[in-house]
Amino acid sequence: MSAHPSASVDVEAIRAAFPALERDIAPDTPLVYLDNAATTLTPEPVLDAMDEYYRSYNANVHRGLHTLSQEASVAYEDAHDDVASFIGASGGREELIFTKNTTESLNLVAQAWGLAELGPEDEIVISAAEHHSNLVTWQQVAARTGATLRILDLTPEGHIDLAHAAEIIGPNTAVVSVLHVSNTLGTINPLDAIGDLARASDALFVVDGAQAVPIMPVDVEAIDADFYAFSGHKMAGPTGIGCLYGKRALLEDMEPFLFGGEMIRTVSYETASWNDLPWKYEAGTPPSAEGIGLGAAVEYLASIGMDAIANHERELTAYALERLAEIDGLVVYGPDRADERGGLVSFTMADIHAHDIAEITNDYGVAIRAGHHCTQPLHDRLGVAATTRASFYAYNTRQEIDVLLEALRATQQLFA
Ligand code: ALA
Repeated sequence: MSAHPSASVDVEAIRAAFPALERDIAPDTPLVYLDNAATTLTPEPVLDAMDEYYRSYNANVHRGLHTLSQEASVAYEDAHDDVASFIGASGGREELIFTKNTTESLNLVAQAWGLAELGPEDEIVISAAEHHSNLVTWQQVAARTGATLRILDLTPEGHIDLAHAAEIIGPNTAVVSVLHVSNTLGTINPLDAIGDLARASDALFVVDGAQAVPIMPVDVEAIDADFYAFSGHKMAGPTGIGCLYGKRALLEDMEPFLFGGEMIRTVSYETASWNDLPWKYEAGTPPSAEGIGLGAAVEYLASIGMDAIANHERELTAYALERLAEIDGLVVYGPDRADERGGLVSFTMADIHAHDIAEITNDYGVAIRAGHHCTQPLHDRLGVAATTRASFYAYNTRQEIDVLLEALRATQQLFA
């Protein structure tokens, strides 16, 4: 992560903004929330923004001439600009589509661009670590278009193997679609090198940024991605809202993914024409409250500072790696170095099933995720059915990682 080294967070002030952190899981068992890569908790400014929308100007956007609809429209449109600015998209709202989540954003690209552009001579390159949202999506588009799906190997430490990338990204490559940060291995991928290979082959460069935008400064123009997808609910925002950044020329050229209300300019019984960007890609009544909530979330994260959040994530990850190494039989997957990772650590503990670990740690108030984390083929490659994952956010502390360790030791004793 390229964060300013001295930026730091005021954890106590941040914790005070998240009401869920006040709750106990059982008597005298406070919540230790370490499942942030799945969904983060929600801060007061986001709750307030959505509450205000529902209490005072809940109306359908872009459809009414009345005051409530106009207020809702302005707030919803401004939220697009705020999120675009947060990820360095200078084109503002015209390059930032609100979707339901990262999965829908990637489906938009794969279906609107992929189904139209790909054919049997084309190759789609993804990495072996992709989330199902970036794997099944392209796999199915490949099956429908006759294109070939090619998988980038990983090094034993969980990095994309750049020698393999240089070998398979070439004249037949039509699209390269990779994670920014792996949701299972934690690896921060070398987007500069992969983007260069994609551009040298005139391939579309798509990035799944679901685990990156929440935890580090992201500049989509510096990355030079053609499309960049992420979700609101992993970055202190509401569920039900995701984003797709796209280069304007591509968004103008593509046909819409969903058809219906709001995305049209004119309609006859025979044909239709499309609305301006980004509304051309936002068919039907949109998630107005959620979009406005996401606007409040990026404002809140910017007020903390993404450099500071990145430093905090790295510091907690380094501490977690250090503490987890104390447990016999515990295997951590992904890079050894915290500065090569996002803020998450997946591991196995001897032959104790991940679900047992997560259930017992829950008795200690610790929320972690167990399973294949939507990366089933990656788990097959790792030779494990499931892993347990702890993931951190701006409000987590070293003391919470100590509670995780205590819970893991207790689990180990129970199965000894
Ligand atoms: N994609 C989310 C995760 O990795 C749900 O947990």
